[in-house]
Amino acid sequence: MSDTLLELAVVIPTFNERANVPLLIAKLDAALAGRAWEAIFVDDDSPDGTADAARAIGREDPRVRVIQRIGRRGLSSACIEGMCATAAPCVAVIDGDLQHDETLLPKMLDALQADASLDVVIGSRFCEGGCTGEWDSERVAKSAFATKLSRQVLKADLTDPMSGFFMIRSEIARGLVPVLSGIGFKILLDIMTASPRPLRFRELPYTFRVRTEGESKLDYVVAMEYLIALYDRMFGKVVPVRFAMFSAIGAIGAAVHLAVLFLLFRMGGLPFVTGTIVATIVAMTFNYLLNNALTYRERRLKGAALLGGWVSFCLVCAVGAAANVGLAAFLHNVQHGDWRLSALAGIAVAAVWNFALSSRFVWG
Ligand code: GDD
Ligand code: MN
Repeated sequence: MSDTLLELAVVIPTFNERANVPLLIAKLDAALAGRAWEAIFVDDDSPDGTADAARAIGREDPRVRVIQRIGRRGLSSACIEGMCATAAPCVAVIDGDLQHDETLLPKMLDALQADASLDVVIGSRFCEGGCTGEWDSERVAKSAFATKLSRQVLKADLTDPMSGFFMIRSEIARGLVPVLSGIGFKILLDIMTASPRPLRFRELPYTFRVRTEGESKLDYVVAMEYLIALYDRMFGKVVPVRFAMFSAIGAIGAAVHLAVLFLLFRMGGLPFVTGTIVATIVAMTFNYLLNNALTYRERRLKGAALLGGWVSFCLVCAVGAAANVGLAAFLHNVQHGDWRLSALAGIAVAAVWNFALSSRFVWG
């Protein structure tokens, strides 16, 4: 047994950061000299062999540990798993690309150790003394917009809620896991908005560095996931995120249906029934592919399964359509209600049916 108790775990989510691994460990070693720490790389099976690079160092330096997740992707969920995998009382999250300033870590740790009432210490680019470094005006604008949106779900007055650099008491992090969404990039925002009681935080300024090795993974999917995560926080308990996406895609599918029908029937002169059949197939295929790419992106069907999934999806939707027509006709003919209400009731029943059955039988 060592005579120093483990003080800190540094969780490092990585995807294709091989070249940065040894550099980061050397920097952590220097910054945290005299402290009892461990590093936990949480790598999503990077094709460039990031996990191997970290394991190679871990064989010589047992402070370096690796969680290799296979078949999964996601920055937030990686951080959550890392935070749950330590015996240390404090846990930090830092990017693996050297953009965060690791020399802040001892100050963060001092702050948590000195003040028992403090829950989390956040590295901020926007508080007094912080800086975003060399950002182009476009990224500054996008970041400002995303920060503004985050105010809709955030009660605390954080200068940098989008920060991916912070330190928290492990016990608090573990306690929050059941209520975290785990979607997307914004683990800190997730934590700060999930907590039933406001977390007591302190911000420390740092300058965001320029990435020199590898490339950023922040793309349009990440941007979309951010919006999904915000939606989940605001309305997720009322209408689950997946059902909302499925319904939105269904609505777009209805527009596609009308557009195809217009082209074939009104412009092309095909019989109405033929046009409707083609429009239905096109719209179902459109819905299927979009749901496969977005609603069920983490269970996406590929290759032969893509074709099989399409057949099941069409079968499910055919029954849904029959239920739609049946219910709408019943309400219209028997109840003599408002025709729009009859139509909407049919659509609602079909949407729930399609969603329930396809999540079970197509992407189950
Ligand atoms: N395990 C895992 N899985 N790691 C990932 C994934 C993933 O799907 N995507 C990205 N990472 C890792 C990267 O390898 C890197 O170590 C870190 O997460 C940050 O990813 P970048 O792609 O470099 O993001 P960024 O620089 O645009 O944004 C980061 O910094 C901002 C400022 O603090 C993120 O941390 C943002 O959340 C943060 O706001
Ligand atoms: Mn980065």
